[in-house]
Amino acid sequence: NNKAQTLILFGATGDLSKRMLLPSLCALDAEDLLGEDLRIVGTARSQLSDSEFRDFAREAIETYLPDHRRGGMAGFLNRLSYQSLDVTTPEGYADLAAKVGENREVAIFLSTAPSLFKPTIEGLAQHGLADSNSRICLEKPLGTDLETSCAINDAVASAFSEDRIFRIDHYLGKETVQNLIALRFANILFEPLWNAQHIEHVQITVGETVGLESRVDFYDGAGALRDMVQNHMLQLLALVAMEPPGSFEAGAVRDEKVKVLRALRPVKPSEIVTGQYRGGASDGEIVPGYDEELGRESDTETFVALKAHIDNWRWQGVPFYMRTGKRMPERVTEIVVQFRCVPHSIFPGAKLTQNRLVIGIQPQENVHLSVMSKVPGIEQDGMVLREIPLDISMPDAFTGKHKRIAYERLLLDLIEGRQTLFVRRDEVEAQWNWIDAIRETWETEGIKPKPYSAGNWGPSAAIALAERDGVTWHE
Ligand code: BG6
Repeated sequence: NNKAQTLILFGATGDLSKRMLLPSLCALDAEDLLGEDLRIVGTARSQLSDSEFRDFAREAIETYLPDHRRGGMAGFLNRLSYQSLDVTTPEGYADLAAKVGENREVAIFLSTAPSLFKPTIEGLAQHGLADSNSRICLEKPLGTDLETSCAINDAVASAFSEDRIFRIDHYLGKETVQNLIALRFANILFEPLWNAQHIEHVQITVGETVGLESRVDFYDGAGALRDMVQNHMLQLLALVAMEPPGSFEAGAVRDEKVKVLRALRPVKPSEIVTGQYRGGASDGEIVPGYDEELGRESDTETFVALKAHIDNWRWQGVPFYMRTGKRMPERVTEIVVQFRCVPHSIFPGAKLTQNRLVIGIQPQENVHLSVMSKVPGIEQDGMVLREIPLDISMPDAFTGKHKRIAYERLLLDLIEGRQTLFVRRDEVEAQWNWIDAIRETWETEGIKPKPYSAGNWGPSAAIALAERDGVTWHE
């Protein structure tokens, strides 16, 4: 894969483009990472001139990218041009192809509704834009179940080989998610303990304080399981649980992740709790319930908590508790690795707390390891012990490094042709396979989400799910 010379953004006037893609590209340009030649062609249905599209981009950047990261915006805006195009009709593609020109490496980013992927790919193929010089990037949702996901994957595969398909899971673009790989495989410390013999359980939490936002129809058709667990949370689980890959190459890393995803045991109905928020106090304000926001009744879940098991040698008997939801008490994404007790205590009377590694993904970016320590002082019979943290705050450890948008890393990798942080077809399909089985059980058992008040960690059954095993969700 050579460096792309043209980036085509489908859905260029959409929300993702405005909030993430254009600001990310501008930020990369401000750091001279885009290369001199890269041109960016935006396409969408609206009739815009190049200069109107540049105005759109300027406003997006001014709204979503901090001032100090914009650089000389004029240079970036000059890279942009625009082609109006209805992806379902043949007109427009020829003009697009003419804009791109001959013999150029092209990267194509589809930030459009998945129902448009197929006609877009056909249009691109018919106009010579899907040859071996081009690669394509797809945004989620990649289907709503295994079958629809396979249909999308087949449509893309009819024009692009797998090494030219870049499926985004934006969590993989987050610095702290990549740091998980560094933490595990650039240190000798953790790996010998990273197994069922020494780890009691793992928790993965992705809490959000927001509700439906403006994505009413999309969200109601998806729900938390498909919106968050199927992709982001399973990718986090795969990174935590995978065997050490032989290298950081795309094939090596993705081979290990897919083995984990395929080893996921089907979830029993007793191991999963779903919820839907009602009105309540959230983030300092009184907010309406899901039904009220939606304007109708719905059985869509806005919260899921579940207990996953990975059926392989390394993880036998180690539950992975996962929970995610809207209208949670706080916005937090973290991974908690709970180690086992020491095999024998030489401190009679002292309560030894098990070591715990907490990896803060967002908003706090930190690594926190709890260890037992002697409380200073002279005691008559033995020592007094207490748990204290070994803390690494990423912003403090790396002062002067600014926070990045996850899409910066991913867009650059797309342009430069690196696939490690993109999801391979077999991974997506293994993810759907596991999710579909859960949804089938909901249907056959008639399971409906339980209500919870906004501003809580889901219904009380979610707390009980862990507490039954003597586990407390980390706060
Ligand atoms: C998206 C989901 O994929 O991820 C949203 O569709 C969710 O519902 C978002 O809010 C969370 O992403 P982040 O980066 O804010 O944690």
